[in-house]
Amino acid sequence: MAVSVLMVCLGNICRSPLAEAALRYHANRLGLDLHADSAGTGDWHVGHPPDPRAQEVALRLGGIDISGLRARQVSHDDFHRFDHVIAMDHSNFRNLTDLSPRQPKAQLSLLLDHLPGNEGRAVADPYYGNLADFEACWREVEAATRRLAGKLV
Ligand code: 4NP
Repeated sequence: MAVSVLMVCLGNICRSPLAEAALRYHANRLGLDLHADSAGTGDWHVGHPPDPRAQEVALRLGGIDISGLRARQVSHDDFHRFDHVIAMDHSNFRNLTDLSPRQPKAQLSLLLDHLPGNEGRAVADPYYGNLADFEACWREVEAATRRLAGKLV
């Protein structure tokens, strides 16, 4: 059965769609049977496509078209549906801890816990930043999901 991974950030329009797309890319590259999805702890952007800057870096740096993704809000039920729920930063992590049922199926972690030497670090929110912040975000997310996919094989 496919291993399932839910990437979670605040708005589900910048970091987590990039993480979802990068993980799917690496899983395909490794021939891994994996279901990747993403969601936000907030509901402001539900139904929206990823931020145009996130779309731009995914296409330019990763060759991946993420324009078809749509934001959704994370739910209590996601903890029963996914094997891994992965937060981009500590605020997301705390919110997810509050939302989690008492006996979740999902294991909760920070994305950068999966990138050796970066355990416990957050993926910085690029939303109020510039294109260089989105490029840095893509590189970090790409490196972390490469290692994560390797672990899940
Ligand atoms: P994300 O970035 O959590 O990486 O999707 C944000 C997107 C939107 C907002 C904040 C962060 N916002 O405040 O609307």
